Amino acid sequence: MDPRCVLEFYLLAGVDESIGETPRNRYREAGDERRSDSSSAPHRAERDRASPTRSPARPTPQPIAARPPVPPGGGAGAETATDAPVRTAVGLAAASATLDELHRALESFEDCALRQTATNLVFGDGAPDARVVLIGEAPGAEEDRQGVPFIGQSGQLLNRMLASIGLERAAVFISNTVFGRPPGNRNPPTAEIAACLPFVERIVELVDPELLVALGGAAAKSLLGINESVGKLRRRWLSYSTPRLARPVPTKVTFHPAYLLRSPGQKRAAWHDMLEIKRKLGEL
Ligand code: URA
Repeated sequence: MDPRCVLEFYLLAGVDESIGETPRNRYREAGDERRSDSSSAPHRAERDRASPTRSPARPTPQPIAARPPVPPGGGAGAETATDAPVRTAVGLAAASATLDELHRALESFEDCALRQTATNLVFGDGAPDARVVLIGEAPGAEEDRQGVPFIGQSGQLLNRMLASIGLERAAVFISNTVFGRPPGNRNPPTAEIAACLPFVERIVELVDPELLVALGGAAAKSLLGINESVGKLRRRWLSYSTPRLARPVPTKVTFHPAYLLRSPGQKRAAWHDMLEIKRKLGEL
């Protein structure tokens, strides 16, 4: 078979990065034996899910553990493998008094599984005093290369959506549910979402926007803890609060631009959401 056909198939299947010739266990290299247990169910599940799109030689990123997120501040009961990273993240985020400090704190945060495979951590982009904060899902290939959120095709659509209601991209603040690109653009692992959430929350607290926009289901679920479809959630204004926000932030869930690129029939609904955002901003 022509090797070009194989490569084209890999590209279509989302395998668009070559990470290495042979697998490397970076947890073991880092001296952390605890997470190198390859018999654990979450590791197997992750490998199985990813396997149809992977070449056999490609290393498997190893999530810390696929457990439900621990609420920031910690939950009651026994310490789980996910608690420690979340606790560290909560501490680092809470101690950051500015976005620059938070960015540096994130870079020092080692318990971020996706940073093992990401080229760059993608922290966020925009005005530190923006009226609107938008949270997407995860950086894609272009964002990973440049370390800036929403600069690929989805980002270009997002820029046009913002411009359609008179918002310049530089006037809003944009970030993501996780800060590292999941290899092959698969869904971000649950443990990674939990470990990133304290940083995302702190972004919202520090920018202190008038409106929050969750782009897609992953952002809605992580920020609001609601597991409903975007189609349902987008129909009402929701409210986002943390103990450190002076007041609850009105929150709109809308379709992720990548989904709109695949389902252009939903652009009409997204346009309606943008008009709602404009109207709300006019009221505030
Ligand atoms: N999709 C996202 O959710 N975030 C980005 O930064 C780019 C694409």
